[in-house]
Amino acid sequence: MVKPVIYVTRKLPDDLITPYQERFDVRMWEKEGTPVPTETLHEEVQQADALFCLITEKIDRKFIEKHSHLKVIANMAVGYDNIDVEAAKEYGITVTNTPDVLTETTADLTFTLLLSTARRVVEAANTIYQNKWGDWAPFTLAGSDVHNKTLGIVGMGRIGEAVAKRAKGFNMKVVYHNRSRKETAEREHGLTYVTQNELLATADFVVSLVPLTSETKEMFDEKAFEKMKATAIFINASRGGVVNETDLYEALKNKKIAAAGLDVYKEEPIASTHPFTSLPNAVLLPHIGSATVQTREAMAKLCLENITTVLDGYEAKTPVT
Ligand code: NAP
Ligand code: GLV
Repeated sequence: MVKPVIYVTRKLPDDLITPYQERFDVRMWEKEGTPVPTETLHEEVQQADALFCLITEKIDRKFIEKHSHLKVIANMAVGYDNIDVEAAKEYGITVTNTPDVLTETTADLTFTLLLSTARRVVEAANTIYQNKWGDWAPFTLAGSDVHNKTLGIVGMGRIGEAVAKRAKGFNMKVVYHNRSRKETAEREHGLTYVTQNELLATADFVVSLVPLTSETKEMFDEKAFEKMKATAIFINASRGGVVNETDLYEALKNKKIAAAGLDVYKEEPIASTHPFTSLPNAVLLPHIGSATVQTREAMAKLCLENITTVLDGYEAKTPVT
């Protein structure tokens, strides 16, 4: 019997794949360190029933029309702005993502970024690596307190709530903005719902955890940064596309806001020539929100589970609806 084909756009460890090999023909892009070339991807997907992809693969309408025979596209991420879900739906292709399994890990990283930016951790560590640790002066490398401050979360979803829980341990006041209120979370974690403008004007830390959509695209622009306090710290752990990067650069350079901690960028990867790297008040990470071994394994397993469930004719565990 011919086995259904699953194409995986990156090399996965054998122990994850082996349990599926008896029933499925699992093919992978084996070269580590480089994404699968577009031509190869098209050739492989032409023969596949299911696609296991990452956020680096742009699965647009054109791609979907070309490969409308696919039964399922499993994105190894909770965000799915790289996939035209509407087009997939039109062609009856199930799209799945990886919610929940990465929530706590991404919240850990978001809070790490917040603490590192507030306390200038990267800049401070670099004084040692660059042999620049000089005199112990009263205000050398003095940052901002985190405890007792106001945290403003734009996008109080799964990860937002997990960040809010951490903030409570720092005795922070947590305000948030969503399109809809989350009254249970408000009661459970002592959160306050505010308008977006109120959040921008009052928060000491503005954290973006919204998905990238046509509504959120560049929502953090010159106008938004102007509304923030001059002492505010902006943290983006969602998607680079929610920020107007030129406006953020200007706001940081001209000290309209105090600092920013970023895990995500409009175009990834960025290099050392990116304008943000010239800013001493920016902490930059290479999109590592969910990057722990345990969580990446859980994400990959969930993708494989979603794929095999759909190929077996059942409803996916975590479909994008
Ligand atoms: P989620 O549970 O869906 O939360 C997203 C929240 O954003 C929802 O509560 C939603 O509430 C709110 N939202 C959506 N549109 C909005 C708008 N226009 N204005 C204000 N709020 C809006 O998703 P999640 O699991 O927490 O993940 C959030 C995002 O984090 C993902 O989409 C992904 O882009 C990013 N992420 C990044 C990393 C990383 O490595 N850095 C890792 C994981 C996830 P309403 O619908 O009520 O507005
Ligand atoms: C990562 O960025 C994700 O959306 O899971």
